[in-house]
Amino acid sequence: MGTWQILARIYFLFSKIFPVNLIYKKAINKLTDLLAQITNEPVIILDIGTGIGETLKYLPVGEKRILLDFSSPMLAHAPKFPNDQKIIADCINLPVKKNCIDLVTCIGVSEYNKKKAVLSREIYSCLTPGGYAIITFSPPGIISKLRTLLGEQIYPLSNSGVNEMMTGSVKKLKAINGSFTLQPSFLVA
Ligand SMILES: C[S@@+](CC[C@H](N)C(=O)[O-])C[C@H]1O[C@@H](n2cnc3c(N)ncnc32)[C@H](O)[C@@H]1O
Repeated sequence: MGTWQILARIYFLFSKIFPVNLIYKKAINKLTDLLAQITNEPVIILDIGTGIGETLKYLPVGEKRILLDFSSPMLAHAPKFPNDQKIIADCINLPVKKNCIDLVTCIGVSEYNKKKAVLSREIYSCLTPGGYAIITFSPPGIISKLRTLLGEQIYPLSNSGVNEMMTGSVKKLKAINGSFTLQPSFLVA
């Protein structure tokens, strides 16, 4: 968790500096594109790694929205809409019931976590059948390296690595819970 405690104060400024602002803008464009592909209105939404909540305004509100982060100073800065509930927890051990979330968003978080397969399984298991998850991954390269300026180690993943991992997670979960279908619930940015 380390530097996220300290970063809470400067993260907002960091996200506005060139070229970080361009990376952020690209992620938001992709996020809004993917959200537009979700035709059914999500009722329960889980945002993982909410941070200071910069992406919240782009997400649907639903009947209930859970904002989850393991850094309480970061989450304390996030705006809270009337139906929002803030939870301090680690995303690789989600304190969320199985099959109850219609939409999971996990934006700018996976790259800071080594255990991506565990993260994707955790996300998949809390989704309702037919629910959606939007997860961003950072590919290896100089742009991803910029994230280390925040002082946190990053674990990039190539596109083929993402596909392989998602297929693996889905298969594994299907074996655990036969009621899941193999429809592509993951929208990968
Ligand atoms: C780069 S910020 C992204 C914030 C927000 N999603 C956005 O797009 O603006 C990453 C956030 O993920 C949180 N985070 C990183 N690893 C986490 C973990 N294992 N469990 C929960 N939160 C985590 C950090 O505390 C930080 O607030």
